[in-house]
Amino acid sequence: MKKIIGILISAIAGAGALAVEPELPDVPEAQAKKIKEFWKKNCVPCHAKDGQGSVLGKKLGVKDFTDEEYKKDFKDKEKLEKKIEKMTKVIKEGVRTGPKIRMKAYGNQLNEEEIKVMIKYIKVLKKEDSK
Ligand code: HEC
Repeated sequence: MKKIIGILISAIAGAGALAVEPELPDVPEAQAKKIKEFWKKNCVPCHAKDGQGSVLGKKLGVKDFTDEEYKKDFKDKEKLEKKIEKMTKVIKEGVRTGPKIRMKAYGNQLNEEEIKVMIKYIKVLKKEDSK
């Protein structure tokens, strides 16, 4: 019996580990949930669930949000402000190369506060083990 319970517990823990999502502890739960849902629905096709970039996204030139090199700017106080400014602009206005839209604008779907939370979320994204 003990063995079965042990197996059950590790199975549940294992499933939990796979489904793990980064937390946003200083954001009200309802808002955190909304942003995570928005990410899944709108951003995952290019940036992938964990932020590494999907096959399509990589073709379009997305950066790996989980990469240590990418995260460096978040740790540097001087760079952080500029970085957040740029990310905000991209989310609001999208990315174009000439007439080609590489990422569409989300400024009409996310307000200032929501964009801030989205950037917080991008900052805490972690590579998934399953890849
Ligand atoms: C159709 C594909 C696509 C979708 C969908 C998409 N993006 Fe992007 N995203 C890109 C591309 C391409 C870039 C530009 C990469 C570059 O040139 O650095 C980009 C860049 C960004 C950047 C700037 C990163 C940086 O540090 O310069 C942020 C932030 C970002 N996307 C967030 C989002 C969010 C949030 C969503 C969902 C609301 C989203 N993206 C949806 C393709 C996409």
